[in-house]
Amino acid sequence: MALLKSNKVIHCLGNISPALGALSSRNSSWWAGVQMGPPDPILGVTEAFKRDTNPKKMNLGVGAYRDDQGKPFVLSCVRKAEALIAAKQLDKEYLPIGGLGEFTKACAQLALGPDSEVLKSGRSITVQTISGTGSLRIGGNYLARFHTGPHDVYLPKPSWGNHTPIFRDAGMQLKAYRYYDPSTCGFDFKGALDDITKIPEKSVIVLHACAHNPTGVDPRPEQWKEIADIVKKRNLLVFFDMAYQGFASGDIDRDAWAVRHFIETGHNIVLSQSFAKNMGLYGERVGGFTVVCSDAEEAKRVESQLKILIRPIYSNPPMNGARIASTILSTPELRSIWLEEVHGMANRIIKMREQLVAGLKQQGSSHNWQHVIDQIGMFCFTGLKPEQVERLTKEFSVYMTKDGRISMAGVTSGNVGYLSEAIHAVTK
Ligand SMILES: Cc1ncc(COP(=O)(O)O)c(C=O)c1O
Repeated sequence: MALLKSNKVIHCLGNISPALGALSSRNSSWWAGVQMGPPDPILGVTEAFKRDTNPKKMNLGVGAYRDDQGKPFVLSCVRKAEALIAAKQLDKEYLPIGGLGEFTKACAQLALGPDSEVLKSGRSITVQTISGTGSLRIGGNYLARFHTGPHDVYLPKPSWGNHTPIFRDAGMQLKAYRYYDPSTCGFDFKGALDDITKIPEKSVIVLHACAHNPTGVDPRPEQWKEIADIVKKRNLLVFFDMAYQGFASGDIDRDAWAVRHFIETGHNIVLSQSFAKNMGLYGERVGGFTVVCSDAEEAKRVESQLKILIRPIYSNPPMNGARIASTILSTPELRSIWLEEVHGMANRIIKMREQLVAGLKQQGSSHNWQHVIDQIGMFCFTGLKPEQVERLTKEFSVYMTKDGRISMAGVTSGNVGYLSEAIHAVTK
């Protein structure tokens, strides 16, 4: 319609010069009303970091693991799996809509455990997704279409920044429950329980399975047990987001404890998984979405609808990352190398937390930095105020999100001393 209109205008003008013609067609752009959007809060930090010429600069914004030299890390089990796959000279046919069967099986088993009753009875369905983000979005779309309770999704306050647009764009409404206590830089257990008790029945609650992003604060097992009881009483649908299995404690089973406990106590959860962090497969986009159902027949019906949802979005998922992940998970030798490497990544981060606190003490900081050690996973919610973050960036070229979150993965033996100095300088 708009194109027709602009042609009509040019036609009426008769003998117009070519330059004017070009101008009027430019003026009739389809997108003239599109306003400039704000930059992504996390990726914007990286852009600013790249422009900085200070040789001591540190990017603690983005959540991707670095080795102790500050370099991106490709796991050796991944390299070995790639070699095995390349040697097989496999074809590049489309995968099924729900993804690679060997992958979805291994993915569900990793989360639910090898002896899971749910898997044995076939009462769950797992589809391969475009990493954790794609999984959450397919989950959001599925809830928007089929959840019979209120379309309210309760997120912990704060939560990963992308949760809100994912569920909102899927057509759900966002609500929140208390989670983080700034006065202790720890878990607000009482606040969380108080809020969860008041959530209307059959609403959806999002729980970070481990290594909560952005706070690094996880409930302890006895606290998880109480949360599971209250959630059951309120009859809430639990949406677990497990983007860091193995990355928190270094032990894949320990990190999946909450997910397994909820299932064992009768919660038919839905679950998002990502292999970005624990296998370092960031750009390969490997993930899974699982729905635990009442029985195998229900699982079949849910599967059929997940396929109907996926087909018009991306038709079927990419194969490369799924082949890598399933090869690692199902080849005993590679699996044991992987478990060691996950452990190694988690341990390096734990060590950096300890060195950062030791460095701050050495600098003479009188603050209590115990939370830096107590928090877990890739991120540390330092408790730094926005003005202190600004000074760190301006005066020390240390980049992080305004909320004071730092990615511990960007801290190394080589720069932890400089970071302690910088943090001390802006907090004394
Ligand atoms: C809590 C949480 N969920 C999901 C994701 C999804 O990540 P990806 O899409 O890279 O798997 C992330 C990544 O930072 C995350 O922190």
